[in-house]
Amino acid sequence: MYTTELQNQAGKPKAQVASTEDPALLEAFEARVAADEFIEPKDWMPEAYRRTLVRQISQHAHSEIVGMLPEGNWISRAPTLRRKAVLLAKVQDEGGHGLYLYAAAETLGTSRDEMVEALHSGKAKYSTIFNYPTLTWADIGAIGWLVDGAAIMNQVPLQRTSYGPYARAMVRVCKEESFHQRQGYEIMMAMASGTPEQKRMAQDALNRWWWPSLMMFGPPDENSPNTAQSMRWRIKRDTNDELRQKFVDVTVPQAEAIGLTVPDPDLKWNEAKGGHDFGEIDWEEFYAVVRGEGPVAKERMKARIDAWNDGAWVREAALAHAAKRNARAAA
Ligand SMILES: [Fe+2]
Ligand SMILES: [Fe+2]
Repeated sequence: MYTTELQNQAGKPKAQVASTEDPALLEAFEARVAADEFIEPKDWMPEAYRRTLVRQISQHAHSEIVGMLPEGNWISRAPTLRRKAVLLAKVQDEGGHGLYLYAAAETLGTSRDEMVEALHSGKAKYSTIFNYPTLTWADIGAIGWLVDGAAIMNQVPLQRTSYGPYARAMVRVCKEESFHQRQGYEIMMAMASGTPEQKRMAQDALNRWWWPSLMMFGPPDENSPNTAQSMRWRIKRDTNDELRQKFVDVTVPQAEAIGLTVPDPDLKWNEAKGGHDFGEIDWEEFYAVVRGEGPVAKERMKARIDAWNDGAWVREAALAHAAKRNARAAA
């Protein structure tokens, strides 16, 4: 889902380190990127480009699989068989997104084990949004509508990101995210036109998920020191604030269409800019969640670590099977 860079992001610019790389190679690389060519795994690339990609793609992969937890939690409690089947498919898609992305990051020379270890030790980040709890069924609607909706805003431009394996993974991911967004909106639509209690639940879910969804785009551009370099290398194609604005402009009319109210008293259409003005985001809350202080952050990490440990025997069995097959083939 969720690709906004969260590390090195507390507003402090990184020290510029003079590159010791071959200027001719660097120049050729930059020219290819500027010409919108894809960079492929075997191509020469600056170390900082490789590092930025590993960080961004692995963070994205972690977000996909941690993102399975808040919704997975509701599969056994979905209100109908149809809702259960749809949610099951959606959560399974997220697991698949994680796999494509880990595979894309591996092409940059980092192993799956290293990435998983970085997640479990807290060194690697994942999207702040998954550290909020899912309290009612309406939250499943709000997540699909808002969280997957925000993910699409982020990911559609990434289909043209400069690193080939990442861009290609995004093509399929975006198709699936679009289904996720619709299934969430459809849940909200049903609840918003249901009983007064159902409508109240839908509104309550929107109230709780709106602001964390806006935070998914990351800190404001002036506090996002990596943005300029990432834009130059075409890893990113739009800034955090541009994407956030797009999301607000698309989502506000969707809320109005189903009779829900966006919980922002400062929200209003600005004719001159052709977009909505909206209220101040609570950046203190955002940075606290980035630091690992989100409401259910500990629970999420425990679930991931337990799943990794409980699945150890599957990995061992798969390796033993592959070794046997290779030995047989060699004989
Ligand atoms: Fe996803
Ligand atoms: Fe999704």
